[in-house]
Amino acid sequence: MRKTFWTVSTLLIVLIAAAGLADQRYLWAYAVVGPLFLLGVYNLLQPHHTILRNFPVLGYARYFFEFISPEIQQYFIERHTDGRPFSRQQRSLAYQRAKNVMDTVPFGTQLDINAANYEGIRHSIYPKEHPAEPPRVKIGGALCKKPYMASLLNISAMSFGALSDRAVLALNTGAKKGGFYHNTGEGGLSDHHLQPGGDLVWQIGTGYFGCRDKDGNFDPELFRSKVAAHPQVRMIELKISQGAKPGHGGVLPAVKNTAEIARIRHLQPHTTVVSPPGHSAFHDARGLLQFIGRLRELSGGLPVGFKLCIGRTEEFTELCECMVESGMRPDFITVDGAEGGTGASPLEFTDSVGMPIEPALMFVRRTLERFDLHDEVKVIASGKVLTAASLMKMLALGADVCNSARGFLFSLGCIQALRCNTNTCPTGITTHQRSLVRGLVVPEKSERVYHFHRNTLHTLMELLAACGLDHVEDVNTGHFMRGDEFVKLADRYFPDRLGHVMHPSPGTA
Ligand SMILES: Cc1cc2nc3c(=O)[nH]c(=O)nc-3n(C[C@H](O)[C@H](O)[C@H](O)COP(=O)(O)O)c2cc1C
Ligand code: SF4
Repeated sequence: MRKTFWTVSTLLIVLIAAAGLADQRYLWAYAVVGPLFLLGVYNLLQPHHTILRNFPVLGYARYFFEFISPEIQQYFIERHTDGRPFSRQQRSLAYQRAKNVMDTVPFGTQLDINAANYEGIRHSIYPKEHPAEPPRVKIGGALCKKPYMASLLNISAMSFGALSDRAVLALNTGAKKGGFYHNTGEGGLSDHHLQPGGDLVWQIGTGYFGCRDKDGNFDPELFRSKVAAHPQVRMIELKISQGAKPGHGGVLPAVKNTAEIARIRHLQPHTTVVSPPGHSAFHDARGLLQFIGRLRELSGGLPVGFKLCIGRTEEFTELCECMVESGMRPDFITVDGAEGGTGASPLEFTDSVGMPIEPALMFVRRTLERFDLHDEVKVIASGKVLTAASLMKMLALGADVCNSARGFLFSLGCIQALRCNTNTCPTGITTHQRSLVRGLVVPEKSERVYHFHRNTLHTLMELLAACGLDHVEDVNTGHFMRGDEFVKLADRYFPDRLGHVMHPSPGTA
């Protein structure tokens, strides 16, 4: 192949030279072959890429196909129920709900509902009428002066920086219309978050962006003045960790640290800024609770909580013990599962660190109840909440309220192209290239954000009614079943038939 290419190129060069000698009009062909030839010679000599050294021009095909492999996967290979992190079917549902068009499916399920990992909901013989409006949940314990009534579904933390200005504007405009909150992410409070007027949760990470002094430490006066100036800020969330990269700080490269970002985050523009993995404002359980109390005081009594992905469970238990001993406590805890999304993270942190949301959520809720803290400390959950069924499952496992990040990105038009870390997002969501951002039309997309939220909650109410429930608090794990339960049932009722033939188990086979 290689040799053929070089032979053909050399023959072409000779041919064009001969044709050019005969008639100068043929010399234009050098405009095509000449650059390719020079590129080939360059690649032949460059030391960096083996493939290009060996296949100086054809080698580019590999890079091209690698670049468009997510699209090839999606358009030609993926089945309806395939696709990761979210299947085509899940994405389509989010798009339909966001566009407020028909979201029913024809002909029957495409899932293997006999598979051991299948999860279903146990409906009732006596379904109820579902309420017109979903309930709201009060966040704010005895120490909080300004409790917040939260929607059951809200926009999870994603910074301006990770997201484009138009994406942030569309999210906040949708949140304002739908009456739910929008978490700023750790990149600070930007004008794009503030301008539409939707409710905000100001997230504060280890970089203290937007409320830091010149050395990168927390600046209480700056924090106080900003909260006082912006009544849209309804809650404060201290970020300890997130599921996609627990215990890993972020790096803001100099190219992304534009004048605007630097102004919002209180940084020197065009410098690389590293957020440390941990907080400089505290180093232990007591320090964390004291800092939360300080933030509550500085914010004039807003609900203050923290977000974490569970790692060492004994640390969380110790934190609860400290809450009981000291009387200090947060108003909410956001539990993020290891399956959570990110703009960019090292693979090892994404794939190998942190507890998935299901065990983490059950652990946090049970521990809070064990220490009699749940009345004052509400639980917010995030981790692949996209459909009403996944939202209901979170409520069953212990969440009071849920956040979704990627669900809302789908409502903005995300096609799961998986390029969020390259500044080339084709849908203008996670890029700052103006030519790509212009494709995202704020009035259109904000309506989609609004409808995605509204239609998902409407279906949640329908599911609760199908289970014969009046209140979201009544949903529990008993309303769910897994595929492996069918196997146990088969074993119990037909010990000599299905259970043995399909799923032999020790002692019965
Ligand atoms: C583009 C992007 C940026 C994110 N930025 C932040 C952030 O600044 N702070 C944070 O705590 N989590 C951040 N996250 C994590 C989400 O807030 C959320 O916890 C996680 O994605 C799980 O929710 P999901 O499964 O609904 O996406 C980000 C996620 C994405 C996709
Ligand atoms: S479409 Fe944009 S936001 Fe969605 S996965 Fe691709 S790069 Fe990320």
